[in-house]
Amino acid sequence: MAMTEDQVVTALRAAGCVFAEDEAAALIKAAPDDSALAEMVARRAGGEPLEQVVGFADFAGVRVRLRPGVFVPRVRSELLVREAVRRTAEHAVVVDLCCGSGALGLAVARHRPEVTLYAADVDPVAVACARDNLAGRGEVFQGDLYDALPEPLPIDVLLANVPYVATRHIPLLPAEARDHEPHTALDGGGDGLDVFRAVAAGASRWLTPGGVLLSEITEAQIEAATATAKGSGLRPEVVSDDDLEATVIVAVR
Ligand SMILES: C[S@@+](CC[C@H](N)C(=O)[O-])C[C@H]1O[C@@H](n2cnc3c(N)ncnc32)[C@H](O)[C@@H]1O
Repeated sequence: MAMTEDQVVTALRAAGCVFAEDEAAALIKAAPDDSALAEMVARRAGGEPLEQVVGFADFAGVRVRLRPGVFVPRVRSELLVREAVRRTAEHAVVVDLCCGSGALGLAVARHRPEVTLYAADVDPVAVACARDNLAGRGEVFQGDLYDALPEPLPIDVLLANVPYVATRHIPLLPAEARDHEPHTALDGGGDGLDVFRAVAAGASRWLTPGGVLLSEITEAQIEAATATAKGSGLRPEVVSDDDLEATVIVAVR
């Protein structure tokens, strides 16, 4: 029998969903039929992120398709998109490294439709998802950081929302992230900056003169990330947004 809206709300509330009414409405809208709805409610009640269950996230003005096991783009990353758009000329080459669903590149391209867009990720599930999102818009490659990219590629804007959670903080993440997003999408090593250091180390070789690397970091990482960028021959600047609780390092070659 079909679940009523009240039953969906009750099931979600019992599972601890804070915004049970809103989520019930989203699930009912997304479910193609009654049995799909029951299955989706069960998945959500089991802790899977709503965006993975309904199959999309609305992020920075674009609808991004998602699937289980792919990092859900965070609202805070709108700062990274905003700072990137400010620095992206109309015909720039933009690379979304560690692209996950491809959300960041897609959002930047919405504002700068003439850019040439490439994206890459090490995780085949993320790559498949990004190919879905960037079909007809940009090429997506699979591989470890720069190794994924075809050479030579003069990059004007390098978006790199790398994993930046310190390993010891992973157990403190909400269960939705811990249990339903791959740890390769979250774990940035001892101080959270291992992947950032690798990206920064290669940036001078890949960025055009004046080209820019943008990465999200935590406040606690500002000093180390800034030193890393300087040590890699880049000129760093840090931008924060209190409302979004976001910090971005912008490093210019
Ligand atoms: C924090 S998620 C960001 C995803 C996406 N950019 C976003 O903001 O929604 C980090 C992503 O980096 C990818 N990743 C981790 N290590 C990588 C590596 N060595 N090379 C390429 N991608 C990597 C993960 O698979 C994951 O998709």
